Amino acid sequence: MENEIVVVGSINMDLVMNVKERPAGGETMLGKDFFTNPGGKGANQAYCAANVGGEITMLGCVGDDLFGEELVQNLKDAGVNTTYIQKIANETSGIAMITVDEHGENSIIVAQAANNHVTPVYLDDHLHVIGQAKAVLIQLEIPIESVEKSIEIAHRNEVPVFLDPAPAQVLPDHLLAQVDYILPNEKELEQLTDVKVINRKSAMEASQILLDKGVETVIAKLGGDGLIICQKDQAEWIPGIKVDVADTTGAGDAFAGAFITSLVAGKDLKSSAEYANVVGALTVTKKGAQSAMPNKEEVESFIKSLAK
Ligand code: RIB
Ligand code: NA
Repeated sequence: MENEIVVVGSINMDLVMNVKERPAGGETMLGKDFFTNPGGKGANQAYCAANVGGEITMLGCVGDDLFGEELVQNLKDAGVNTTYIQKIANETSGIAMITVDEHGENSIIVAQAANNHVTPVYLDDHLHVIGQAKAVLIQLEIPIESVEKSIEIAHRNEVPVFLDPAPAQVLPDHLLAQVDYILPNEKELEQLTDVKVINRKSAMEASQILLDKGVETVIAKLGGDGLIICQKDQAEWIPGIKVDVADTTGAGDAFAGAFITSLVAGKDLKSSAEYANVVGALTVTKKGAQSAMPNKEEVESFIKSLAK
């Protein structure tokens, strides 16, 4: 069977603590509630994509611990094909320690652990999976040489490459030249281009730099100010959607998963970005990453309520 969308990336267990505000160095404070919830940028994107109707195969690694089992099971429950996820002996699953403050703002520290086993060799073993995909979606929580390898395999097989450049880092030009869609937020855009992104104008200037480097389409995500779709000689702004913020964790991942699913299903660029905008906004209204992601019906009823 052909794989519709392949997500190559990280799978983490999120250990989340709600706090009033984050502690300073050397300070001990009492937090509020604590919960664990499946996360990892790659897994979040796969989960969300499957939730909104995508046919998804995930490439990634977990440890041989209890978290690993739960993480894979959660993806399976959403309908993701987990056949190729490798369980690494004597390794822990990826962990993200997350604090969320009163305003729903998070800070995240990731221990890559099993995600470091998503190596170029592992990818070589799964060449056919990427090569036969309709599209491939990658982020930056696996070793950078594996990001490069995935992009190279996809590009060689004429499979469209979607890159969510998170967590923010500088990327080499030859890699960017092989990317069809890149989905940076303000910070990532800044990191990639050295342009200070403070408003739509600077976001467009920064996006232009990526287009000049050979990226086909830039979707600049501006948080509350929505997003800008930039292509050669054209740019379009899509306003943000006002929602009550509970926890922003996973919103960018939800956006990526919904966006690629919509495009692969044949929707045009603008409607796919608008759809993903809604899915991202809904994810912000609930706590956690995968536990916050809406399904197709929830998205559709929200869209109807907006139209009223
Ligand atoms: O993008 C959110 C994700 O980043 C969390 O789920 C956490 O696991 C980190 O990877
Ligand atoms: Na959330």
